[in-house]
Amino acid sequence: MNLPPPYLPFTLPLEGDEEELERLKLKIERDRGFNCSFYKDKCLRRRIAVRMRARGQRSFADYASLLDREPAEYDHLLDTLTINVTKFFRNIETWHAVEQQVLPPLFATPGPLKVWSAGSASGEEAYTVSILMREWAEKHHRRGDADRVRVVGTDIDRKSLENAARGSYPDLSLTETPPHIRQRWFSPGPPYCIRPEAQKNVSFVRRDLISERAEGGQNLIFCRNVVIYFDREIQERLFKDFYDALVPGGFLVMGKVETLVGVARTLFRSVNNRERIFQKPA
Ligand SMILES: C[S@@+](CC[C@H](N)C(=O)[O-])C[C@H]1O[C@@H](n2cnc3c(N)ncnc32)[C@H](O)[C@@H]1O
Repeated sequence: MNLPPPYLPFTLPLEGDEEELERLKLKIERDRGFNCSFYKDKCLRRRIAVRMRARGQRSFADYASLLDREPAEYDHLLDTLTINVTKFFRNIETWHAVEQQVLPPLFATPGPLKVWSAGSASGEEAYTVSILMREWAEKHHRRGDADRVRVVGTDIDRKSLENAARGSYPDLSLTETPPHIRQRWFSPGPPYCIRPEAQKNVSFVRRDLISERAEGGQNLIFCRNVVIYFDREIQERLFKDFYDALVPGGFLVMGKVETLVGVARTLFRSVNNRERIFQKPA
């Protein structure tokens, strides 16, 4: 029977084949500079299996040969490995908590305000902060304060960063965006383009959270839906890195999905347990 690839009746390599998997991981790092060794094996296997199934490959070795024959497959593989799904105002309750518990003390701080969206994917999170801060400043008759804010979105995935810099989005990216925000901050679409006023203080840079140190002097860091794929040891190091990168009184927003682990747990003060918002003591 000639079944199309997605329905091939074979068992996906969710366990076993350790050596072949190791060889494939090294190959991906050598060819594309993507270091797989810090990601949980279970996640990697599941993700690689998605591509193997899509391409009808039965073993890691066969899939490695396919990558040699068709280097374009790497783009699909890296897309799948980095899982860059995101939305504007994703988990709206987190943004309500940020608006109520983070922005007032933040805007009370004098001078420039540095905001970092770590693992920003195609930029929705970084632009959401920018929009939220502008809305807050307008509502409190402090419009000029929004110009003190600089938001930097970083990600390992170049394609996502290119999309982020373009600032143009399909319907799906805005399904959680309140209608008045959509009207005020986006051009009519699709595609929906961010208004230049909310875009001008936002930039995007490629940075690998695993191998590169964080830039210091941050007032607010968002890192949501990123570290779940990292080993615990890496998570611990990263959270300590965030702690060091924040100014005293600065905030870390993790959202509901992930939990603070390691020494950082004892260093931060919890601001909102449910939304996992933490503050570095002043
Ligand atoms: C699911 S998205 C999260 C986007 C956004 N923070 C949100 O919550 O909607 C995860 C992002 O983490 C990025 N990522 C994965 N590993 C990374 C690494 N080592 N360094 C930087 N970014 C990474 C992926 O490329 C992807 O864009």
